[in-house]
Amino acid sequence: MSVFPKDFLWGAATAAYQVEGAHDADGKGLSNWDLFSHLPGTTYQGTNGDVAVDHYHRFKEDVALMAELGMQTYRFSISWPRVLPQGRGEVNEAGIAFYSGLIDELLKHNIRPMITLYHWDLPQALQEAFGGWGSREIVEAFDEYARLCYQRFGDRVDLWSTFNETVVFIGMGYFTGAHPPSLTDPQQGIQACHHVFLANARAVKSFREMGIRGQIGFVNVMQPHDPISDSPQDRRACEIAEGIFTHWLYDPVLKGEYPAELLAMAQQAFGVPQFAPGDEALLKDNIVDFIGLNYYKREMVAHNDDVNGYAINTSGQKGSGRELGFKGLFKLVRNPHGVYTDWDWEIYPQGLTDAIGRIVKRYGNIPIYITENGLGAKDPIVDGEVRDQPRIDYLRDHIQAIGAAIEQGADVRGYYPWSFIDLLSWLNGYQKQYGFVYVDHANNLARRKKQSFGWYQRVIASNGERL
Ligand code: BG6
Repeated sequence: MSVFPKDFLWGAATAAYQVEGAHDADGKGLSNWDLFSHLPGTTYQGTNGDVAVDHYHRFKEDVALMAELGMQTYRFSISWPRVLPQGRGEVNEAGIAFYSGLIDELLKHNIRPMITLYHWDLPQALQEAFGGWGSREIVEAFDEYARLCYQRFGDRVDLWSTFNETVVFIGMGYFTGAHPPSLTDPQQGIQACHHVFLANARAVKSFREMGIRGQIGFVNVMQPHDPISDSPQDRRACEIAEGIFTHWLYDPVLKGEYPAELLAMAQQAFGVPQFAPGDEALLKDNIVDFIGLNYYKREMVAHNDDVNGYAINTSGQKGSGRELGFKGLFKLVRNPHGVYTDWDWEIYPQGLTDAIGRIVKRYGNIPIYITENGLGAKDPIVDGEVRDQPRIDYLRDHIQAIGAAIEQGADVRGYYPWSFIDLLSWLNGYQKQYGFVYVDHANNLARRKKQSFGWYQRVIASNGERL
């Protein structure tokens, strides 16, 4: 018998900028990524989402493929500047019509939509008006945007999440400079992150005040950290890394407060986050209904008194990345016994069971969705077929890892592999493939089912029994 509950949801995920294209169609406003990806040297070989895989024009064909796959749910994001070109104020009805049409098409095929409100594409107008996430004004603007979405789509959509992976868009946007707005300013970054938590809380409050039927959650990277050795220094370094990358991002949305020790450290070192009257109560009173976990890899951590900085592998040449380190605190190091992808991500399914267990231990048995999980690879084409057996192996092992967590009592309600279709990887171009559906960039973006498509079809049909 399957370990997955009868009403477990099997789906897949994407995000607007990575699939839609139509970057300036039908009144859409400019996003921070539209601008950033056109600046020289920012992305892999200058790739961008101008056209992406043209999902904007081909969504009916894509939804038909989702239905054929047997998907019961689809996680996608709304492009804020497509519905509010200036970020607030005038609504772009053509943008609303696109998402409305997509939702209707999904429902027609019995596919339950899960909407992500913010998957990194900020209206550039808000960046220019007040510095985007760097300013408190963003909280009000985000709430206006969220309310618009609830109002227009809340009659048909009952699974929502406010943000995708704050650690990435804030970490890379404000600490490493690899995402827009390309800053390397921890002080601004910590404060910007605070504004994200406030915006989340405000949007959750509005969701409840407006009586929207359904659940609203928050999606985080789940990257369990393990010490590279048993030495007290490595264990302490690991505790700090787990605190920064996990507890800092989860506590404010699941407990309504920051982890106390780290908060004191940040305020002492940088004077932030700065709280305004009402912030604490807003966070406390608006805990999310569920947490979405995006799991790809775990990280090994070591004590660090040498490395500062980092370099990520964006080429798919194994070993081309460099360790990430914050001198005096910790560094993320390679596991000598680990199995790695071509992008130097450790493949470690057990980490997903562990991660879910850690969430349950810290936050109680809250509803969990695995909102992303997948293998980025250059898939070989053999005799005309896209043979992605390594992806099948990866997903199978991770589905088993979720099954193990469910057997241990965790309330995991759904699984969204990343990604439904091959799409743009923000910094890695189109060569890092994740999908069940291949897109032929040399042949008018034609769609083709991969080997994994038939496999996942059987997984869904058997509720996770036939792996
Ligand atoms: C997550 C994001 O970080 O991981 C996705 O939510 C992203 O948008 C995915 O594409 C895979 O990362 P990458 O860098 O391999 O594209």
